[in-house]
Amino acid sequence: MTLRESHIADNPEFPWLEAADVDGISTCLNALGWLESGERIVTCDKAGEGNMNLTLRVVTNLRSVILKQARPWVEKYDTIPAPWDRCLFEQRFYERVQVLPAVADHMPKLLAADGDAKLLLLEDLGEAADYTDLYADAALHEPEIAALAKYLSTLHAGTRSEPDPAFANREMRALNYEHIFVIPLATDNGLDVDAFEPGLSEMADKLRDDAEYMEWVRKMGDRYLADGPCLLHGDFFPGSWLYHDGGVKVIDPEFCFYGDPEFDLGVWLAHICLADQDESVFKELIGAYSGVFDSALTVRYAAVEIMRRLLGVAQLPIPVSDGTRSRLLEKSRHAMITGEIEVLWSFDSYSHLR
Ligand SMILES: Nc1ncnc2c1ncn2[C@@H]1O[C@H](COP(=O)(O)OP(=O)(O)OP(=O)(O)O)[C@@H](O)[C@H]1O
Ligand SMILES: [Mg+2]
Repeated sequence: MTLRESHIADNPEFPWLEAADVDGISTCLNALGWLESGERIVTCDKAGEGNMNLTLRVVTNLRSVILKQARPWVEKYDTIPAPWDRCLFEQRFYERVQVLPAVADHMPKLLAADGDAKLLLLEDLGEAADYTDLYADAALHEPEIAALAKYLSTLHAGTRSEPDPAFANREMRALNYEHIFVIPLATDNGLDVDAFEPGLSEMADKLRDDAEYMEWVRKMGDRYLADGPCLLHGDFFPGSWLYHDGGVKVIDPEFCFYGDPEFDLGVWLAHICLADQDESVFKELIGAYSGVFDSALTVRYAAVEIMRRLLGVAQLPIPVSDGTRSRLLEKSRHAMITGEIEVLWSFDSYSHLR
């Protein structure tokens, strides 16, 4: 029996939704009182390229909405278990940022939520693409950088307090910890990174043999698991940003937690590196973020994020390469060891001297 089959068998009363089952979705939404009188569903389709959840675009005779259901598995790989309560933390994030317009205005509105059915009903921002094209040849422009930086600085400053236990999100943090700090550097992880770039596994071995580097990864992993002073988005990368007429929008805060603001900032910077953006983008981003941050901590979170996107399970749509990934890995190793933020944009220009 698969994980999916056994959960369904164990929870026969749970409203397991499927895109093709419009009647089932209709019954569920009516039972929750989420459809207005006279409102009926016209179509239900997958909303986009998500992995974790069942994320649907539900079009009715009156409107279009996004319906997101968390299941106790990863939707795209239903043999992998996932924390079932994750939608609760995502719901709390949307509710918490209501008092921070610079954050809430850059996200869809949360229209309804139900903890028993593990459902969120969100404003549909339209069929806009996410920012994955940054890994191809697109560029992040100044107004987008300013909006994203304002989003992050407001989120961090506006939530700074003792860690709020309502955002502990321990299980999701434990899952992410494995995927960021453990699996990519495990010798027996079963991943064939040479398929992305010939010779990359040798580079990975070099990292594993570097005791100083490994010690830094361990320390950063401990910090990630410890609570910190601000509410974080927790997954601040181009896959969580949508192109929108009214400016960039941010979605999917299911990995949110109280942690180091440097984690969100570091992940963002990591993806600026991975997307091979100009030096000016790094500088604009750092200049636009108005909060105080520890630059060595930020660059070390960035370093580990670069590494895990090259060696781990959550790969990015970067074409098969011949040296690009090795250079990025070497850059991230150097960034981790030195803690110098400039390494993120100036390493290539002086690395040949080393
Ligand atoms: N409010 C929204 N408006 C329009 N499209 C949306 C909205 N929310 C989600 N989508 C679409 O659905 C996709 C998946 O959404 P989301 O990232 O929230 O799901 P997920 O299952 O958590 O995905 P992932 O595994 O990538 O974390 C998005 O990339 C986007 O294309
Ligand atoms: Mg997600």
